[in-house]
Amino acid sequence: MSLSIQEVTPADAPLALLLLADPSERKVRAYLPGARCFAARMDGAIVGICAVVPLAQGSHELMNIAVDPARQQRGIGTRLLTHVIDTYRREGAQRLEVGTGTFGYPLAFYQRQGFRVFQVDRDFFLRNYDEAIVEDGIQHRDMLRLALDYRPAY
Ligand SMILES: CC(C)(COP(=O)(O)OP(=O)(O)OC[C@H]1O[C@@H](n2cnc3c(N)ncnc32)[C@H](O)[C@@H]1OP(=O)(O)O)[C@@H](O)C(=O)NCCC(=O)NCCS
Repeated sequence: MSLSIQEVTPADAPLALLLLADPSERKVRAYLPGARCFAARMDGAIVGICAVVPLAQGSHELMNIAVDPARQQRGIGTRLLTHVIDTYRREGAQRLEVGTGTFGYPLAFYQRQGFRVFQVDRDFFLRNYDEAIVEDGIQHRDMLRLALDYRPAY
């Protein structure tokens, strides 16, 4: 598998991929212009995307990460996530945050890379989405806030 990852402009980030991770087009369009986007390409085509926005000094939030459904579970998402984590570490970031559901495989996907829960936003998905978000037959209600704290390398 020949995979390359590069930063792309928000305008080049495929909306169809972004909507896989966040079904609210209104929310995606609101944060996308202020985001840094990283694209995974195979044979020139974008097969994965990740969008990150700045928070307070040194902190950033991963708003979206998605891989083309036909290419999932082949390691592309992990390659993209670790690329983003390493990019921010190299640039001297202190913290990378992400919000995700309280169950389901994306939670383990982040925890495997060292993200840890620091907050629960109760009823987040009920307050912020018109449509119910259902996974494994269970409706998502609460959002877990996770963070990866970068340690200085001694
Ligand atoms: C989350 C996502 C980006 C992971 O990308 P990916 O290319 O499938 O990731 P990887 O192949 O590196 O898989 C990492 C692990 O995730 C888990 N995983 C990925 N897709 C899964 C699925 N459909 N069902 C169950 N587990 C899955 C597996 O545990 C996998 O590890 P394994 O292959 O060793 O078992 C991708 O599945 C996706 O786009 N999902 C829809 C959008 C989304 O939910 N984004 C996250 C929002 S919080």
